[in-house]
Amino acid sequence: MTAIGSGRSDSPNRVLIAGASGATGTELLSVLRPTDLTVRATTRSYATVDTLERHGADEVVVADFFEPHDAVAAVKDCDIVYCAVGTPPSYRHVTGGKLVDRTGVMNLVTAALASDVSHFVFESAIGVGSSKCGLSLPARLLIRGSLKAKQDAESALRRSGLSYTIVRPGTLTDAPPRGDLVVGEGGHSVSGSIPRADVARLMAAAPFTPAARNRTLEAVSRDGLSETPRNLVDIDWAFDQVDVDLEQPRA
Ligand SMILES: NC(=O)c1ccc[n+]([C@@H]2O[C@H](COP(=O)([O-])OP(=O)(O)OC[C@H]3O[C@@H](n4cnc5c(N)ncnc54)[C@H](OP(=O)(O)O)[C@@H]3O)[C@@H](O)[C@H]2O)c1
Repeated sequence: MTAIGSGRSDSPNRVLIAGASGATGTELLSVLRPTDLTVRATTRSYATVDTLERHGADEVVVADFFEPHDAVAAVKDCDIVYCAVGTPPSYRHVTGGKLVDRTGVMNLVTAALASDVSHFVFESAIGVGSSKCGLSLPARLLIRGSLKAKQDAESALRRSGLSYTIVRPGTLTDAPPRGDLVVGEGGHSVSGSIPRADVARLMAAAPFTPAARNRTLEAVSRDGLSETPRNLVDIDWAFDQVDVDLEQPRA
C-alpha cells in the first residue's frame, strides 16, 4: 500500500476520517475498516464514540474543528486526512459566516501541514467555484454561504503545499454504490447525483492514485447524470489498494 505525496512515509499506517460520524464519513469507515490501515474517526459528540467503534474505527477522537488544537490532536500521527465534514442543516448555508466548511477545514489543513501528512482528500461539492454551472441557480442561492466557504477551503488547500485531491461530488444520495463513476475536471464538466458510498470509494483510493494528485475533480454516477458530460478524465483509480471491489456489495 503506497501513498503518493511527500510525507513521513510511503506506506501510510494511520488515516484520519474527519467527520466519520456523518453520512459520507460512515461510508468511508466501511471502506477503510477492512484494510490494514489504522483508522482514526472523529465526531463532536461523546455519545457517538461507541457507534464509531462498532462501525470499525480503531481510534475515536472527539473534536470540534472550530478549535485549532482539536484539529492538531485529531491529525497527530496520521499519514492521510480524509475530510468529510459539513455544516448541519442551518440558515448558515445561506448566510455564511463561521462554517466548518471553511474554518474547520482550514484548521485541519494547517494541522496536516504541521504534522507532515502525505495526502489530504477534501470532499467539496459541485457548485463550488469553477463548478458553479453544475448546480442550478436556485440550489446555489440556497447554499451560497457554504459554497463560498468550501471555495475558500479549496483555495487554502491548493495553496498549502500539501499533496491533495479535492473531490466535488454532485447531489449526494444514500443509494448503494453503483461503481459507474463519471469524473470530470475544470469545473464545467459533469452534474447530477452520486451515492455517498461511491464518493467514499473514490476518496479512499485517491491517496494511492498518482493521477489524482493535486487535482480538483467533479464526480457523479452515470445513472445520476443530469446533462451531457464534458471534460472527462480517465483515471486509473487504485481501488485495489483499499480493497474496493466495485462489483461487490458493501459490507
Ligand atoms: N448533501 C449534498 O447533496 C452534498 C452534495 C455535495 C457535497 N456535499 C458535502 O459533502 C460533505 C459530506 O456531506 P454528508 O451529508 O455526507 O455529511 P453529514 O452527514 O452532514 O456529516 C457532517 C460531518 O461533519 C461533522 N462536523 C460538523 N461540524 C463539525 C465541527 N465543527 N467539528 C468537527 N466535525 C464537524 C459532523 O460530526 P458530528 O455531528 O458527529 O460532530 C459529521 O460527521 C459536506 O461537506 C457536504 O456539504 C453535500
